[in-house]
Amino acid sequence: MMIPRKSVAPFDFEGLEIRDFTHGRDVNSSLAEITVPVGARHRTSWSERSDKYYFGLAGKLEFEIEDRRFQLAAGDLCIIHKGCRFSYENGSTAVARVLLVHTPSFDISSEVFENAHIRGTEAKRPRAGLPEEEGMKIEYLPIGFVRSPHQTTRGVPIQPSRARGIKGTVELEERYAEGLADLDGFSHIILICHLHKAADFKLKVVPYLDTELRGLFATRAPSRPNPIGLSVVRLHAIDGNILSIEGVDLLDGTPVLDIKPYVGDFDKEIEVRCGWLDQVKDRETVADERFEK
Ligand SMILES: C[S@@+](CC[C@H](N)C(=O)[O-])C[C@H]1O[C@@H](n2cnc3c(N)ncnc32)[C@H](O)[C@@H]1O
Repeated sequence: MMIPRKSVAPFDFEGLEIRDFTHGRDVNSSLAEITVPVGARHRTSWSERSDKYYFGLAGKLEFEIEDRRFQLAAGDLCIIHKGCRFSYENGSTAVARVLLVHTPSFDISSEVFENAHIRGTEAKRPRAGLPEEEGMKIEYLPIGFVRSPHQTTRGVPIQPSRARGIKGTVELEERYAEGLADLDGFSHIILICHLHKAADFKLKVVPYLDTELRGLFATRAPSRPNPIGLSVVRLHAIDGNILSIEGVDLLDGTPVLDIKPYVGDFDKEIEVRCGWLDQVKDRETVADERFEK
C-alpha cells in the first residue's frame, strides 16, 4: 500500500500540525508526521495502551519523560513506553518535525492528558460486548504521584508489611493539598494507585509466596483488568502537598488515585481466613519481573 504525503491532509492539534498517515486503516501500528512550530508544546500526557517512537526528521525537541529531560535532534529516536508520563516542546528557533509510530496503533481514547482525558469521536472501539461499548468506561486522573527508591519491579517488597524502613513520598497535586487537613492525626493511610507498569492480566497466576496457579482475584498480583493497587503505608509527616510515608511497595512514579485514612475500627477484621495464603511456607518478600510489562 502506498500513501503519498500530499494525500494526507494535516490537522491542528493544540498548535502541533499532524499528518496521520495510517488513520482509519486496518494496521497494527500507526504512523504520523508531526510538525512542531517554535515554542509549541505537547502537553504532559501518557499513553494507556501504546508504545511511542519519535524519530527526529528536522529541528530539535526537548522531551521530558518521567521527570528526565532528553534532547531529540534529526536522526535521533526517542522511545516512550506505554504508561510513561511525557511531554515535549520546541524551545529552539527552528521548526521541528518528527515521525511518530504507535504500537499498537493510535487510539485517541487511550491518550491521557494531564488535565483532561481526551475522547476522540472516531476512537476505535475494542471488542464488542465489553462494558466500554455500553458507555461504562470509567476515567480517573491521578491526584499525585509516588516517589520511591524502586525503579523496576524486581526487588520491590511485595507488600508494605515487607517494606518496613523503606521511605518515600506522595507528591499530591497542589490543588488538592487543602484536602490533607486533619490527616496528620492518622498513623497510616491507604494509597489507592494505578499500577502503571503492570503487564496485561491473566485470570490464573502463580502469585508471589506460592508455586501454584491461583485465580487472579484470590491474589494481590499487580496485573489485573483494572491494575489498581491498595497499599497501607505509615504516614510520617505532611508538608504542604508532600506526604512522607514508609512501607513503600510501589514504583517511583506510580500515579495515585486516592488517599484514605487507615482506621482500625473500620479496616481491621479479627477473625479472618486467608485461603491458600494460610498454607504458604515460602516467606518471599520481594518481587521479580513476572507481572511487569
Ligand atoms: C504485589 S503488588 C501489591 C500492591 C498493593 N500493596 C496491593 O496489594 O494492591 C506489589 C508489587 O507490584 C509491583 N509494582 C509496584 N508498583 C507498580 C507499578 N506502578 N506498576 C506495576 N507494578 C508495580 C512491585 O513489583 C511490587 O512488589
